Formats: sequence, structure tokens, C-alpha cells
Amino acid sequence: MTPSNLLSVNNLSLGVTRAKHPATTIVKDVSFGVDRGERFGIVGESGSGKSLTLRAIAGLLPQGIDVFGGEINYEGRDLLRVTPNERRALMGPEIAMVFQEPMTALNPVMRVGEQIAEGPRRHLGLSRKKADALAIEMMAKTGIPDPAKRSRAYPHELSGGLRQRIMIAMALSCQPKLLLCDEPTTALDVTVQHQVLRLLENLCDDFGAALVFVTHDLAVVNQTCETLAVMYAGHIVETGWVKDVFRDPRHPYTRGLLDSAPDFDQPNRPLRPIPGFPPNLAERPAGCSFAPRCAQVQAGCLDSSPTLMPVTANRTAACFETRTMFEGMPA
Ligand SMILES: Nc1ncnc2c1ncn2[C@@H]1O[C@H](COP(=O)(O)OP(=O)(O)OP(=O)(O)O)[C@@H](O)[C@H]1O
Ligand SMILES: [Mg+2]
Repeated sequence: MTPSNLLSVNNLSLGVTRAKHPATTIVKDVSFGVDRGERFGIVGESGSGKSLTLRAIAGLLPQGIDVFGGEINYEGRDLLRVTPNERRALMGPEIAMVFQEPMTALNPVMRVGEQIAEGPRRHLGLSRKKADALAIEMMAKTGIPDPAKRSRAYPHELSGGLRQRIMIAMALSCQPKLLLCDEPTTALDVTVQHQVLRLLENLCDDFGAALVFVTHDLAVVNQTCETLAVMYAGHIVETGWVKDVFRDPRHPYTRGLLDSAPDFDQPNRPLRPIPGFPPNLAERPAGCSFAPRCAQVQAGCLDSSPTLMPVTANRTAACFETRTMFEGMPA
């Protein structure tokens, strides 16, 4: 954590408590920091806890998921301890979220222009006329052709790519300092995905917004983010600059993820999927959660779980093997 962090998540744990069942921890001791204007990716297999982590920051945890511990500090305020009114005041002008499927977040019976204008009217106190004009301006900024006409459309009258641009326009309409994106381009075809990613990156730069970008797709992180955290079974197992992690992954899981994804620079490289499956979180192994699938597993990995430790400048990894290698290296 650095003093310039806009957001710092400290030892966040989330899980499920059910009557007559032992509590199941899903997200365990997750910590990371995001600076102003930084583009930070969270990547990992399905079920690793990426969306729950993001939703905890947005205050939108699904019913049945509880916070077991930790802090989410945003500009010195713990978001887990603010009142519902304080939270409502933050969402829009400070923090905004873009979801994977815009249809679930957009109101189907309201014109898209009005939906974009709602935030600026409520949070920035703009008149209806000014907010409508801002909505059209935001739609133009997100590259929507003929924005004045399209602002009168209902969500179902627009394509998936345009709806996602509407969501981005809506999220950025109050100029938040932090934009949370959960797989915002997964439902789009590859060319539209590329356009939307560039758009997000450019708009975040223009508005000076920091980005927390959740995806299972390494190529998308590589294209969009500067720094990343790799999640496995509810833990962060590696963090660092994207270019460093891709060039020299330090956790065997990150190495496995990179080996199992196509590399356009080396199209003839065979893909090597990671053997086995992520653990059932209700029966997490006693030691390292990745040990049952890890090619470098040692006896100690089965007994205790490694914590995230620095391995080089600006890099951390949660792996006994990596730490041993690092400790053996000359300073
Ligand atoms: N409301 C819920 N009640 C119980 N368990 C849940 C709930 N929501 C999520 N989970 C469980 O928590 C785990 C993590 O879920 P999460 O949605 O954060 O994963 P993810 O990393 O975003 O995966 P994906 O890439 O598929 O979106 C999963 O095993 C999921 O089954
Ligand atoms: Mg998810």
C-alpha cells in the first residue's frame, strides 16, 4: 500500500453462512491497492472470487454473501462501514460500475438518454435540459453515432456493443474517480470488444479515473491494464506490472494460465492446460490451494498456505517455491 492509494483493500474475506452448516470462506484475505488513474486488472479462472471482490467494493454483494472481515478504504473511508446514505452519495460521482451484461443493469422501459441523465441530475444538481445535453455529449464521447437520435431509444432497440457504450457513458457521466468493470466486453464479438476496450482506456485517461477491471481473459488484461492481481480459489496469488508478470510469471498458477492461453507472437506454441480443477471452496485444502494442481509442489506446500510476499520490486507472489528461489538469488 502506498500513501497515494485511491483504493486499498486490506485482508478482505467474504463467504456464506447457512444455518446448520459451517461457514464457507470464498474470498480469503484479499489485499491490493489502486492509485489515482491506475488501470488495475483482476484475472483468474471462473469461480475464483473476482466478481465478489468487485461487488464488495461497489457495495453490491449478492444476497447470501457476507463480509467476514477486512477493510475497503476509499480515500480514507472504509466502504464496509459507511452508512447506506453515504454509500449512495459515493456511487456515481466517486465510484461507478460497468457490468458484463448491460441489459441486466439498464432499465428496459426508460429511454437511454434519460438513464444517462439521471446521475448528473441527482448528483451534480444539473437541470433536466443540461443533464440531457450532457447525456448526448457522453454518448458522442463513447463513439455512438447520431447520439441525439439514439438518446431517445430504449435499450432493446440498440445492439450489444451500443448498449455497453451506454453503460460506459452512464458510469462516466458524473466523472467518477474509480470505475469498476466486471467482464464488460465478454458478451461482445472480438472487433467490438477491441473498440470498447480502447474506449474505456481513453475515457479513463481523459477523466483521470482509475480502473479496476475484472476478466478471465489474459489477453484483455494485457491490452487494457498496467498492473494486475491473479486470483485463484479466493486468494490473490500474484501481483505486479502486467508486462513483468507476462514476461516472467512467478507463481506456478500464473505460469499455467499463460501456458494455457494462445500467444499470437508464438502461434505454433502448443497450449498446455492446467491439469485438474480448482478446489471446492467448502473443502479448501489445508496447505496451498493450488498444491493439488501444481507441478512444483513440495512437501511443505500441503501443510501451510503461503502468504503474498514481495519477490522483486513491485512484485508479490504467494508461493513457497518462488520465495526459496528468490531468497537464493544474489541481492
Ligand atoms: N450468492 C452466492 N451464494 C453462494 N455462493 C456464491 C454466490 N455468488 C457467488 N458464489 C460463489 O462464489 C465463488 C466466486 O464467485 P465469483 O462470482 O466471484 O467468481 P468469478 O471469479 O467472478 O467467476 P466468473 O469468471 O465465472 O465470473 C463461486 O464459487 C460462486 O459459486
Ligand atoms: Mg465473475
